[in-house]
Amino acid sequence: GTPDFDLYRPSEEHDMLRDTVRALAEAKITPFAAAVDEEARFPQEALDALVASDLHAVHVPESYGGTGADALATVIVIEEVARACASSSLIPAVNKLGSLPVILSGSEELKKKYLGPLAKGDAMFSYCLSEPDAGSDAAGMKTKAVRDGDFYVLNGVKRWITNAGVSEFYTVMAVTDPAKRSKGISAFVVEKGDAGVSFGAPEKKLGIKGSPTREVYLDNVRIPADRMIGAEGTGFATAMQTLDHTRITIAAQALGIAQGALDYAKGYVQERKQFGKPIADFQGIQFMLADMAMKIEAARQLTYAAAAKSERGDADLTFQGAAAKCFASDVAMEVTTDAVQLLGGYGYTRDYPVERMMRDAKITQIYEGTNQVQRIVMARNLP
Ligand code: CAA
Repeated sequence: GTPDFDLYRPSEEHDMLRDTVRALAEAKITPFAAAVDEEARFPQEALDALVASDLHAVHVPESYGGTGADALATVIVIEEVARACASSSLIPAVNKLGSLPVILSGSEELKKKYLGPLAKGDAMFSYCLSEPDAGSDAAGMKTKAVRDGDFYVLNGVKRWITNAGVSEFYTVMAVTDPAKRSKGISAFVVEKGDAGVSFGAPEKKLGIKGSPTREVYLDNVRIPADRMIGAEGTGFATAMQTLDHTRITIAAQALGIAQGALDYAKGYVQERKQFGKPIADFQGIQFMLADMAMKIEAARQLTYAAAAKSERGDADLTFQGAAAKCFASDVAMEVTTDAVQLLGGYGYTRDYPVERMMRDAKITQIYEGTNQVQRIVMARNLP
């Protein structure tokens, strides 16, 4: 359809929010970003700072104790945190991913019980879809949930679970009717403290090292039947609907990583002198910076337009969310790689932040659906 530009142009409130988050990130998150990466440790400073400013889960509706930020505001928060530290940006991003199934399809009781603690900062939320043998083919999952009176008993292994072990709450997709494939999958809320829940060793990753990625083991986890999110058999649709909205948050993360790399490189080339002048004076350098800024701006427009569609619940959100995530993550990879190039040998060392940004960018082409899966999704939902 015809784009309505007013609906995704950030308002004055959005601009103020950006200023607030940028200042907070520069003061309280940037100083720890290198250490969080180097030590592969959870960015507790970032969580504390985000919770203190109510920025850890801005998407939670006001009626459940949240700030009720719109999709664009949520994107801006994630973008600005990612500009400082990609690992930390997974706090607001995955809090949305994990809890959106409850917001979209959960009962009133589930919303009250689980969104309140999330909004307060007492609990984080993770999302458990993938398994060791079910990644891109999410509907091929094996984790089972078997009804037993007023309970369900869950058994299986979930893999690549972001913030596993740190989160209190887990949205878990599991098979309730193996004969029906995607229509036989249901979604549940599982708590970290439920008997039979345990976690694998943290994965040793290329990037986003501050965000723990672990397996979640479900060993005869017996939960009340009212922990089911929506009706039996609707879990896969809820999971996909969730990703339509949250792939935009990965686009935001990619955008922030790319902007952080450009901003750093821009400063560096003005300081660095070779052949008697700042390398910023060479047209070859200027053209690289121009291309980086151009790509970031294109990614930003696509991402913000997708956020507006997410907010309105437009019918073409599925295409736009996949397009934003795919495009912005490719831009993040290109821009961070160029930023390393602009810093030359220095860029290749851990004394400068751009190699971390390049390593962090890579995951945005992979998670919440590889960019190949995004193309499947786009092709099935062409505008
Ligand atoms: N909205 C609502 N319902 C949807 C939907 C959507 N966007 N997409 C699918 N569905 C429902 C429909 O009911 C559909 O049935 P109908 O076609 O009869 O309507 C049903 O699901 C089955 O859909 P498909 O036939 O499209 O299913 P498929 O098996 O062909 O799979 C797929 C499609 C797009 C490849 C999907 O498996 C997929 O997205 N794979 C990638 C998974 C993924 O993104 N994983 C990321 C994990 S989260 C993560 O990474 C978190 C993190 O750490 C940050």
